[in-house]
Amino acid sequence: MRILIVGANGTIGKAVAAELSERHEIVTAGRSSGSFQVNIADPKSVSELFSAVAKVDAVVCAAGNVHFGPLEEMTAEQFDIGLRDKLMGQVNLVLAGREFVSSGGSFTLIAGTLSQDPVRFGVSASMVNGALESFVRAAAIELRDHRINAVSPSVLQESMGAYGPYFRGFEPVPAKRVALAFSRSVEGAQTGRIYRVE
Ligand SMILES: NC(=O)c1ccc[n+]([C@@H]2O[C@H](COP(=O)([O-])OP(=O)(O)OC[C@H]3O[C@@H](n4cnc5c(N)ncnc54)[C@H](OP(=O)(O)O)[C@@H]3O)[C@@H](O)[C@H]2O)c1
Repeated sequence: MRILIVGANGTIGKAVAAELSERHEIVTAGRSSGSFQVNIADPKSVSELFSAVAKVDAVVCAAGNVHFGPLEEMTAEQFDIGLRDKLMGQVNLVLAGREFVSSGGSFTLIAGTLSQDPVRFGVSASMVNGALESFVRAAAIELRDHRINAVSPSVLQESMGAYGPYFRGFEPVPAKRVALAFSRSVEGAQTGRIYRVE
């Protein structure tokens, strides 16, 4: 398969690229890294990405920003970061990608455990991850030619330096195990699934 990985240079994206590149041709994209540059929050940039990359058999997203902070200080603009970037950014990939992903191909999006298991300061991430999971379940019943799934991991071992204080008591998961969930989605046959890695 020819697989586009958005966010291929990130903590999750690198592990997914390592797993899938053993068997497939990988095309990498990122904000400033990768073979192609894209800002998923900007629909025009996403359309330009697909025009440049052309046909693929699968789209994997391991990118998307949200603002972490106490609810009592959160502003509408800070909520908007997660809505425009991680949520609509990934929806933008599906909307623009429909005509470039081959029939029978797939989309795999990234959500996260905070949809089910909220923590302090993660209210925007919980909201966005929950919305992404609902989007995937609903889109799967209407996408005729494509499959769509999400991977919803707990905090990664590799990210504990940055996120550890938010996730006390959570068992971190290795990026390698998260990458296997992406492999199940891309190389398997299921659709509308949320693969939880905990
Ligand atoms: N790490 C965790 O513990 C964890 C756990 C659960 C869920 N998640 C979710 O997984 C996703 C990736 O996390 P990560 O830790 O792997 O992130 P990361 O290491 O910061 O990597 C993010 C990657 O996405 C790209 N990117 C960021 N914003 C983008 C945009 N607007 N348009 C296009 N590309 C963009 C970056 O490109 P550049 O390299 O060019 O900047 C980078 O390659 C996030 O949505 C996060 O919420 C992470």
